Amino acid sequence: MATSGASTTTSKRRRLLLVAAALLLTLLAAPAPVASARRRPVRLRVYMHDIVGGPGQTAVLLVRGPGPENPSMHPGNYFGDTVAVDDLLTEGLAADSAPAGRAQGTYMTGSMSRPVFVVSVTLHLTAGRYNGSTLVVAGRDDTSEAVRELAVVGGTGALRRAQGHVLWSTARVESPLHAVLELDVHASVPVPVPTTTTRAKPAGMTLASHLSQV
Ligand SMILES: *[C@@H]1O[C@H](CO)[C@@H](O)[C@H](O)[C@H]1NC(C)=O
Repeated sequence: MATSGASTTTSKRRRLLLVAAALLLTLLAAPAPVASARRRPVRLRVYMHDIVGGPGQTAVLLVRGPGPENPSMHPGNYFGDTVAVDDLLTEGLAADSAPAGRAQGTYMTGSMSRPVFVVSVTLHLTAGRYNGSTLVVAGRDDTSEAVRELAVVGGTGALRRAQGHVLWSTARVESPLHAVLELDVHASVPVPVPTTTTRAKPAGMTLASHLSQV
């Protein structure tokens, strides 16, 4: 009886060892993280010139929304109105300040009752450190609020895998046809990991170095 009890214990132990070995193999087989958890902050401020008519027009009505007419906006604005933009971005508030790129995409009257646009634009930067890179911005622009928050959902080039937000405000109304928006970008991009040392750093170190950058 004692012998049989001991052999049961041994086989239990063996089974446990097998389970532990299988678990270890699974963990070792898991793909190594390809990018560091560390991120580098990206701060940018650009001005977007939205010119909806007249000379220098860069925003055109693409789709006349079926309505209803939006009571919180100027007459003639319909739910679903969609505008395509290729708006100039500048470094300063003035349209003739240094060019910074273009904002290309659309905005749509996205509410039936509130003065809200749903924005989807890609900022193509053509100056400075991020020349040639893009930032993809999407979100809700409630023009009744002084500062709106839109999302940075991605990027390309030096801004690949960007994440963050844009504080979006109307900086100046030059004319009924020309509004200047201030885009204050608070984002971050992953710090590239040298290909020879792809091992992830200990979590504590990663967090500390991330915090020290913010
Ligand atoms: C941005 O990059 C393009 C292409 O490399 C170059 O032709 C242009 O001069 C650059 N612009 C600025 C302002 O540096």
